[in-house]
Amino acid sequence: MLVSAKEMLTKAREGHYAVGQFNINNLEWTKAVLLTAQELNSPVILGVSEGAGKYMTGFKTVVGMVNGMLEELNITVPVALHLDHGTFEGCCKCIEAGFSSIMFDGSHYPIEENIEKTKELVAVCAEKGMSLEAEVGSIGGEEDGVVGMGECADPNECKAIADLGVTMLAAGIGNIHGKYPENWKGLSFETLEAVKEKTGDMPLVLHGGTGIPEDMIKKAISLGVAKINVNTECQLAFADATRKYIEAGKDLQGKGYDPRKLLAPGFEAIKATVKEKMELFGSVNKA
Ligand code: 13P
Repeated sequence: MLVSAKEMLTKAREGHYAVGQFNINNLEWTKAVLLTAQELNSPVILGVSEGAGKYMTGFKTVVGMVNGMLEELNITVPVALHLDHGTFEGCCKCIEAGFSSIMFDGSHYPIEENIEKTKELVAVCAEKGMSLEAEVGSIGGEEDGVVGMGECADPNECKAIADLGVTMLAAGIGNIHGKYPENWKGLSFETLEAVKEKTGDMPLVLHGGTGIPEDMIKKAISLGVAKINVNTECQLAFADATRKYIEAGKDLQGKGYDPRKLLAPGFEAIKATVKEKMELFGSVNKA
């Protein structure tokens, strides 16, 4: 059964480790993440962006697929199904569809509007026993070809949102979605410390987990980060393994064109990436 992310993140914050959010795109992705979490006895959060939800034909399909897998694969570790960077409407749809967790990304609104909308969702999530992630200070990354450097959140705004009763808070600390540019200055630990100081026990979320050096990940966890999002790194691993299979001409040998064979190296590559991250984040055997 899907669970809210609240308990796993409270334990992570207290135990000084982080739970990984791995974004899913299809059946292979979902199966790879769930099986790895079970093998490593780790809690896990499945992230679904609105685009990925649409790609998989809608949030209800995602809920059906994930619930089916939890049962058929005998998954017993805590699993949360979480909307990533949701709009207000997207959040409502996921609540309705049976997600156990949502992120409302109101970071592009003026802070008053972000507060108003987040507050409404806090009430609904409390009633449904769901966890809610809010965001302050937008996370950088490529959008329509423009690469943003990643904004740093205002710690007072973080406190205002945290005080509304959200479960976890994503604060921009110079992190970026996708690959980091050559001239990236690194995470702003100064900002993270200031946010932590204002928000106390609130589990903090680090987006843009792909490509952040290990020592920075560890330091961020020591400063209150309890959830780390990884998406691009699984995509790169999947693409790389699939390319190697095709370039080696394996799809032309025997029944190598069978999708169950063709997608197997990519599937294994996702599993290896998720394992590496769970070990780095310290969530192994924390189920
Ligand atoms: P990356 O794609 O950089 O790993 O970021 C994932 C993320 O933060 C999803 O919200």
